[in-house]
Amino acid sequence: MTYNNILLERHDPVALIRLNRPKVLNALNSALMSELSDLLKELEQDDEVRAIVITGNEKAFAAGADISEMQALDFSRAYREQFISSNWEQVTRCRKPVIAAVAGVALGGGCELAMMCDVIIAADSARFGQPEVKLGILPGAGGTQRLTRAIGKAKAMDLCLTGRMMDAEEAERSGLVCRIVPAATLVDDAIAMAGEIAQNSLMATMFNKEAVNQAFETSLGTGVDYERRLFWASLDTEDRKEGMAAFLEKRSPRWKHR
Ligand code: CAA
Repeated sequence: MTYNNILLERHDPVALIRLNRPKVLNALNSALMSELSDLLKELEQDDEVRAIVITGNEKAFAAGADISEMQALDFSRAYREQFISSNWEQVTRCRKPVIAAVAGVALGGGCELAMMCDVIIAADSARFGQPEVKLGILPGAGGTQRLTRAIGKAKAMDLCLTGRMMDAEEAERSGLVCRIVPAATLVDDAIAMAGEIAQNSLMATMFNKEAVNQAFETSLGTGVDYERRLFWASLDTEDRKEGMAAFLEKRSPRWKHR
């Protein structure tokens, strides 16, 4: 498939997706999100790929949904076309691990896209924010919900109501990002982290991802119960048998990812 707004680099078993509308700081228009959604579906089916990194460029992960595209929208059209729904949500539906590698700005929909990924690595140049309030709107791709769950009400209100940006240090302190790395090595570091994840059994990775994500959807008791059932299920995989056998035989496991 040909993509005009994103680039794919293969570093098997890691796939690197670069958002690629540099003239508008990777503003996320429908064409880009549709391509991203299609590519994620494709990578999901690709057995050679076991982890995915999404990044932008040194100035911008993404400066938000494309404001020139939104300018023409009204309720009726947005409702009919389901503006910001399935294409965006495909990111959250991907069952393989997805890392957002953020340098420069991740604002509005850019911050929301990063939060849809499983984990965010930030360059020291990264800045995050939900500045929609300054446009007379509010986040529309999960920002008020995911940011609040990630960093708590006090900080989320601060960011959403003022529209200010927070730098990488504050984002790490607040729990939005897992680690900060130098901007110059961001992509390599993200690929290395994805590679480390990809060395594990894909089945086990998917079980872990599903269980952690469940924590955002349920009460503690229901979540623990969900985890226990997935844990029982994991006992039946070929990789579980191999993983434990390898440990007991003091050798490296040879995963089948089944
Ligand atoms: N949509 C469309 N175009 C955008 C854009 C966006 N979100 N963000 C930046 N651009 C464009 C600018 O219009 C400009 O284009 P021209 O060169 O043709 O004028 C180009 O990118 C470079 O931007 P700036 O000249 O503004 O660059 P800067 O370095 O001076 O400022 C910035 C950088 C602070 C990020 C500024 O561009 C900015 O504030 N952008 C908008 C951020 C924003 O409000 N994002 C939220 C969008 S709404 C949303 O995302 C809704 C949702 O929840 C889904």
